[in-house]
Amino acid sequence: MTMQGNSVPASIWSNVEGIAYGGDYNPEQWPVNVRLEDLELMKEAGVTFLSVGIFSWALLEPSEGQYNFGWLDEVMDNLAAHGIKVALATATAAPPAWLVRRHPEILPVTADGSVLGPGSRRHYTPSSAVYRRYASGITRVIAERYKNHPALALWHVDNELGCHVSEFYGAEDAAAFRAWLERRYGSIDALNSAWGTAFWSQNYGSFEEILPPGVAPSTLNPGQQLDFQRFNSWALMDYYRELVAVLREVTPGIPATTNLMASSATKALDYFDWAKDLDVIANDHYLVAGDPERHIELAFSADLTRGIAGGDPWILMEHSTSAVNWQPRNQPKLPGEMLRNSLAHVARGADAVMFFQWRQSFAGSEKFHSAMVPHGGRDTRVWREVVGLGAALKRLAPVRGSRVESRVAIVFDYEAWWASEIDSKPSEDVRYLDLLRAFHRSLFLRGVSVDMVHPSAPLEAYDLVLVCTLYAVSDADASNIAAAASAGATVLVTYFSGIVDQNDHVRLGGYPGAFRDLLGIRVEEFHPLSAGSQLKLSDGGVSSIWSEHVHLAGAEAVQTFAEYPLEGVPSLTRHTAGSGTAWYLATFPDHDGIEALVDRLLAESGVAPAAAADAGVELVRRRADSGGSYLFAINHTRSHAAVEAVGIDLLTGSAFAGTVEAGSVAVIAED
Ligand code: GLA
Repeated sequence: MTMQGNSVPASIWSNVEGIAYGGDYNPEQWPVNVRLEDLELMKEAGVTFLSVGIFSWALLEPSEGQYNFGWLDEVMDNLAAHGIKVALATATAAPPAWLVRRHPEILPVTADGSVLGPGSRRHYTPSSAVYRRYASGITRVIAERYKNHPALALWHVDNELGCHVSEFYGAEDAAAFRAWLERRYGSIDALNSAWGTAFWSQNYGSFEEILPPGVAPSTLNPGQQLDFQRFNSWALMDYYRELVAVLREVTPGIPATTNLMASSATKALDYFDWAKDLDVIANDHYLVAGDPERHIELAFSADLTRGIAGGDPWILMEHSTSAVNWQPRNQPKLPGEMLRNSLAHVARGADAVMFFQWRQSFAGSEKFHSAMVPHGGRDTRVWREVVGLGAALKRLAPVRGSRVESRVAIVFDYEAWWASEIDSKPSEDVRYLDLLRAFHRSLFLRGVSVDMVHPSAPLEAYDLVLVCTLYAVSDADASNIAAAASAGATVLVTYFSGIVDQNDHVRLGGYPGAFRDLLGIRVEEFHPLSAGSQLKLSDGGVSSIWSEHVHLAGAEAVQTFAEYPLEGVPSLTRHTAGSGTAWYLATFPDHDGIEALVDRLLAESGVAPAAAADAGVELVRRRADSGGSYLFAINHTRSHAAVEAVGIDLLTGSAFAGTVEAGSVAVIAED
């Protein structure tokens, strides 16, 4: 774990054996006899780490300035006595009723002017000065009370910032947006130029005239929309920073974080930017039940989380033991699936495995959400699996602190995601994640690890760099990508990349302006396809979604379109760039086309899978500074699978015999 480049104080992990294990603990929902039973059950399960107090403000401060800490004192003392460490929350994720009654102006406002009321959670706007004052206040009281408590290991600031509501349109938000714009642009002329307000008479005479991009007769200014996304992501983090300033003052040695929701579903928050302010990355991840490839989405999200963590180990702060309660159909996990999920996160860099939540609630809207202790108690499959997972994680102690080995990078950028999906684009079928996930999936199925990296990240360590739908890119980031090719990497750029700069202004002179020279091509005009239609390619394959009129300008055509009006026009090109190569993909190939392309890219870059194995086995290698390596082999099939590896399976303590049982996992400390 790193703390802004330094080591996190050992307090997070001291007394924690192996990979940290536990979950959200909400003891305020239970009487004292249940809380005492919890301690026994936690011992049985091997729990070492808990998030406490996330939603307890109304109980800790039942009326303004009146505190009731007795129950939390008891819980903290008992956990400390049992050697369990705590990520203590600031309790700010659900403002108490007395605060809302006194200050209804803290409530969030939506684009159409609706006020989101209390009775649920997260009913505040991060730009409310009043809310910040009260939230900082309770944070300080909690920090002062527990600053020397032996259980305290980490601050858990608020909870899932931006969950449920991530855009704020109230009067105070508008004022904060204007102030943010003034800091960003310095002058109204600079803003007018960045937003291209000469179009449709949108010119502003002063910052006072600017509003959030709410409800309007037609499409809104794209620069305004993009900046509003940036502002909202920043505003939530600015609120985080205000709470952390209090914590740093009271407990300078205790690290702080908040739980992210990095996955294919969370678009609104720029987590690469947020990471700069977090002492350790913590992520929450939930499977989409019913998706037969949910384990691949998990891998994508875990790889993204590791990317946000800069490759360092991270905390899986929440996932579920079985069903959730908020999907249309909440199906339980299959037998063994929780272990596979947990160890897949560990394989991809997690050094802590935690759940929402410890004990399943009997009341409230999450009562049908699974937990570590189910409604049915100890005589349940879930409990047996929870105990089994605790034992497994203890055995994985040697893995802690090691890093995932990857020679392939997929460039990931939230700003490009936002910009590429703002309205008025050539095709609504171009979705930022689609190609990223198609390539990630192909590499996952081959047992090739992928790092997800920001376009500004160092790329020297990679032999293959995939740049998908990077619609908006800065000059510096485009140069960084080109430098990777010059230095010898194989770089693939896909269509609708490098089209605009950070202001969403088109780079003129032929697409893709930022990558034309690198790729040795020039695109004259886009030809998006009709919904659901396919286009024939010269190698007999088909593609969908996109085509375009590509001209060669130094590159060779590897494949061409084979249909009117683009017959003979390149659909895939390859260009020598320094000591590497730069490939360009001008369409969305079907499954076989993606596979054939990945074959070629891997062959050219010399990247091989982590091991040879039967199909259906997820393979990832973590390597320790000492040089030792751990091969995770997760068998997602219902039959035994062969894996070529030599060493001790940490989960059994015996020499690995070359087979991973159906639905099971091996973690091989390699010879
Ligand atoms: C989120 C929240 C938790 C809980 C879970 C349910 O992750 O942080 O409080 O609501 O969802 O899945």
